[in-house]
Amino acid sequence: MKRLAILTSGGDSPGMNASIRAVVRAGLGRGLEVWGVRNGFDGLIDGDIFQMSSADVGGIIGRGGTILRSGRSQRFMMPEGRAKAAESLREKSIDYLIVNGGDGSMTGAKLMHEETGVPIVCLPGSIDNDIPCTDLSIGFDTAINTAVEAIDKIRDTAYSHDRVFVIEVMGRRNGFIALEAGLAGGAEAILIPELPFDLPAICDQLRAGVAKGKRSSIIVTAEGAARATDVQAFIQKETGYEVRCLVLGHMQRGGSPTALDRVLATRMGAEAVKAALAGHDCHTIGLVGTKLVAQSLDVVLSSPRVVDPERLLLAEVMAQ
Ligand code: F6P
Repeated sequence: MKRLAILTSGGDSPGMNASIRAVVRAGLGRGLEVWGVRNGFDGLIDGDIFQMSSADVGGIIGRGGTILRSGRSQRFMMPEGRAKAAESLREKSIDYLIVNGGDGSMTGAKLMHEETGVPIVCLPGSIDNDIPCTDLSIGFDTAINTAVEAIDKIRDTAYSHDRVFVIEVMGRRNGFIALEAGLAGGAEAILIPELPFDLPAICDQLRAGVAKGKRSSIIVTAEGAARATDVQAFIQKETGYEVRCLVLGHMQRGGSPTALDRVLATRMGAEAVKAALAGHDCHTIGLVGTKLVAQSLDVVLSSPRVVDPERLLLAEVMAQ
């Protein structure tokens, strides 16, 4: 193997740049040529590929977003798009592809490997932390710190005005961000898509809190569990309290990556180059405990990624 290419795909996540830097510099350090693909799989289909130097990735370790840009390619969902993408790599004599993205990007990458034989290693890049077989995905730590900063600020004003606030965080299918940010922010209730919740019971809990002298409460909801505006309307009607809401939205995807995300992305990027040289051809790098492991994409994509219900129970105990 002489030439490898890297692309970022799906929703961007803080730390993607650090992983690009790591792949480029680890690759160059091992005597390889490293090429960058712009605009994710769409750029691969269009042949938007350029050779990268060490200087191209200078000063990006602390930058959010992705210098290669990203996207959710509709064309790559079709076999013709994947065939065209493989052709672009062949035209440039690129032997290997590294994909940083979430489970959707990994599914597409696996299909391309199966249909065209292109060897691939993926890096788990997603703020959602919903990728199986890795304890952490690149960007999650930054996203939860962004959410916690918002919760802390909202708590100040909630306390001053005796208000209830509902804060909606990202997570269409899972509640990893809600659970972690809610626990760290001392939320009174956390709503996640994976587990049932009882809004009337939460209203009782709020009333009990007020009776004990609580001046404000924060409810964190994952976007896939309930919309903040709906929860706000329900609680306001049921309790008569002043309730406000805040949707954090895409700001959770931006910002300078935390040290943890920078180091994780750097380690994973370098590990992906190692995995490529070791001949892994349809794998993903995962963090298991403190170790990085290359695991088959078949296994990763067929494994469950479940939240720990103990954390929700812990949050409930802490909210008393
Ligand atoms: O997958 C990352 C994510 O940020 C999800 O948490 C969120 O639901 C989704 O992407 C938003 O996607 P888009 O940027 O396409 O609106």
